Parts: sequence; structure tokens; C-alpha cells
Amino acid sequence: MTEDTTPHAPPENGLQSPALPVAPDSSQDRGHIPPPAPHWLIRLVHQLRMLLLRLAIRMMPPQLTLFELATGGIVAQMLQQAIQLNIADRLDAGPMTAAELGTELNLRSDELHRMLRACSSAGVFSLDSAGRFSNNYLSRAMRSRVSGTFRDTVDYFTSPEINEVWTELPNTLRTGQGGYEQLHGCSVWEWYAQNPAAEARFARSMMGLSALDAQGIASARPFRQIKKLGDLGGGAGLILSEILRRNPQLQGVLLDAEGVLHIAQQLLTKRGVAERAELQPGSFFQDVPNGCDGLFLKNILHDWDDADVRTILGNCRSGLPVGGKLLLVEMLHEPNTPNRVSSISDVQMMMATARGRERSEAELASLLKEQGFELTRIHPLPGFQSLIEATAQPPAAAH
Ligand SMILES: C[S@@+](CC[C@H](N)C(=O)[O-])C[C@H]1O[C@@H](n2cnc3c(N)ncnc32)[C@H](O)[C@@H]1O
Repeated sequence: MTEDTTPHAPPENGLQSPALPVAPDSSQDRGHIPPPAPHWLIRLVHQLRMLLLRLAIRMMPPQLTLFELATGGIVAQMLQQAIQLNIADRLDAGPMTAAELGTELNLRSDELHRMLRACSSAGVFSLDSAGRFSNNYLSRAMRSRVSGTFRDTVDYFTSPEINEVWTELPNTLRTGQGGYEQLHGCSVWEWYAQNPAAEARFARSMMGLSALDAQGIASARPFRQIKKLGDLGGGAGLILSEILRRNPQLQGVLLDAEGVLHIAQQLLTKRGVAERAELQPGSFFQDVPNGCDGLFLKNILHDWDDADVRTILGNCRSGLPVGGKLLLVEMLHEPNTPNRVSSISDVQMMMATARGRERSEAELASLLKEQGFELTRIHPLPGFQSLIEATAQPPAAAH
């Protein structure tokens, strides 16, 4: 994508929760985050990095590496503050000392300097020998008004909401129940329906993740053959908007909760595809949009346990003709192969969804087959996700 898909304007005083996400004018965009390298290169570099990391760990005293790991939560707290204070946006005009930032923010310069120095020790922001902070490769991706910003995603993962959910880990290990059920007595989605500001933050955070894979998904061959695509649980609509832009023959239907559709309406309008996109409030546990020859579910199945996934896939099969396309985006994860990205995503699903999990290719293929689909192809994507293509089989072939 070349234009701004930023979901919202930053709060003026830096301390209030952001306003409703509205993609700002592209004229306000102050530089793009570079597009991701090809998926194979990213995976290769990741493997190399893990290899070097393992080597380095063996050469360092274990105490130092364990110190770094055990203090990861401290880094997360500081990133949360850096976001609340809009530091990356403030540094966009040029380097600033903590004293200058502190004057703008009415904060103490010594403590601010120490916090930002610690952030820069973790790789976010640069600090020069004159004591001036500036944006670097990582902090530039935390600016609010740039295409593909990751600001809202960092905000979500470091938020008090998620910290609180993780305090329930001991109970989850005992009962298998996720954090929202334990804390609030309802599913995350029911809780979001009662907490629109948190629901909106989550939808914006998914946009940050989606931006990484949007082009790879939207340019995939299967979308070229579909006439009407239902995006189930499509969230803020970023991916659907990109698919519609790249596939002019397509009509789209976005099915999600009412509060989320409000955000999607603005984004689809902003990106010039609203007239080809219908917004349908509803639940994929009840039904799927009518008349679609393709259904798309990105990061949906990993939110649910196998029984719920069977219901969702069964509804998808009922809503598609034989030969219809089911396109899933999921983070495939083999059971006994740890991966720094997908293993963490998996435990986040464990804590923050209704018994959701990342699944292996074999697990997904089997669930698909049970519900009358054949897994036909897997397209790896840059963000460690895969676009999984399945075809609706004739009823006799269903098990
Ligand atoms: C993990 S998010 C994925 C959003 C989007 N597909 C993406 O990848 O950016 C899950 C989405 O499912 C929606 N959702 C949850 N339960 C749903 C239901 N029963 N029917 C329709 N959408 C639902 C949520 O509101 C949320 O937008």
C-alpha cells in the first residue's frame, strides 16, 4: 500500500485514550514504513537470528540472558508510556533531549531521559552523545500517521487490559479458561461489546498486524476468480479494502460485530471501496453472507477451540457452492517446534480468547476435511502467517 491507512489521530496531550480511529488525509503522512521483504527472506533471516542468538546465549553467563528475559515486562511498560506520550511522533521533526520533551509534556527530564535511554538500550529510539533522542528503524514504525503503523498494536499488547489478562495465567494453567472469562465471566467478544473503547483499540491493533500481510494476501491468485467474497470477522476492514482495490471484479461483504463495523465503514469509505462493500452485523455462529462464491477468515479460527471451529467451518460450507473457495489466514504452528513468533501468538490466544490456539497444517487440514473442504494450497506470507486455500467439496465427499 502506498497511501496512509493510519487508523487515528494521536491524542493532543498524549495522555488520553485516542479518538475514534479515522484514517487521516494522506497529505499528513510523514514517511512510510518500508514494505516487508519476501516471506522466504524473512524466514531465512529469522532462522539465522535464532541460530546466532543460541550461540550468543551459550557464550554469555546464563544470569545475563535470564535478566534480559525476566525484565521483558519492564520494557513493555516503558513502550506503553512512550506510546501514551507520543514520543515517536514528537521526534519526527528531529532529535530532542529529554529536557525539551519534558518541557512539552510537563514531565521531569531526568526520569524521562532514563526511561528513553532504557528504551534505546532495547533498540527503540537512538540516543546520541549530546543526550538527544531520535527515531530509529523500530520507533519510526510506532509513529501514528504512517502507512502500516504498528503503534496501536504495541499499545494493545502493552496495555493494562492485556497485563491484567495475563495475571490469570496460574488459573488458566489449572482450568484451561482464558483470562477474560476468569476476570469478567464472559468471552473477550462479549466483554468488548460492553467496552467500546477497548473494542476499538483491539480493532486498530489488528490493523497494524494486518498491514504487514495486506499486499501479500490481496494479490494472491484465488481472489482474482471470486465474484462475491464474504469476510467473516473482518474487523476494521483493512484487508477487505485492499482485496477490493486489487480485484475490481469483486463485491465484498464484511460480517462482524456492530461496533467494529462502524470503524470499518470509515476505512472502506476513506479507501474508496465502500460502494463495493456491504457491512453485515452478525455472527459466523449463526450464518454467513448469502450468495458468496468465496469466504475469507483472517485470524478467526485461532480464536476458538476445535468444537467452535467445526461450527464455523460447517456454516461456511453450508454457505458456499461446490467448488467455492474458503481462504483462511492463520499462523501455522507445528506442535513440537518452538517459534519465537507463533509460539507467543499461541499463548496469547490461550489467555485472550475462548480457548483458541494456533494450529498445525495437519490439524487444520483435518478440521477442514471433516466439514467438507479440501485444503488445496498454502501461500506463506511475510508476517509468519499463511494464506490457506481450501475448496468446498460435493456433499458425498464430506465426512
Ligand atoms: C482476531 S480479530 C480478526 C479481525 C480481522 N479478521 C483481522 O485479521 O484483522 C477477530 C474478529 O472476529 C470478530 N468476531 C468475534 N466473534 C464473532 C462472531 N461470532 N461473528 C462475527 N465476528 C466475530 C471480532 O469482532 C474481531 O473483529
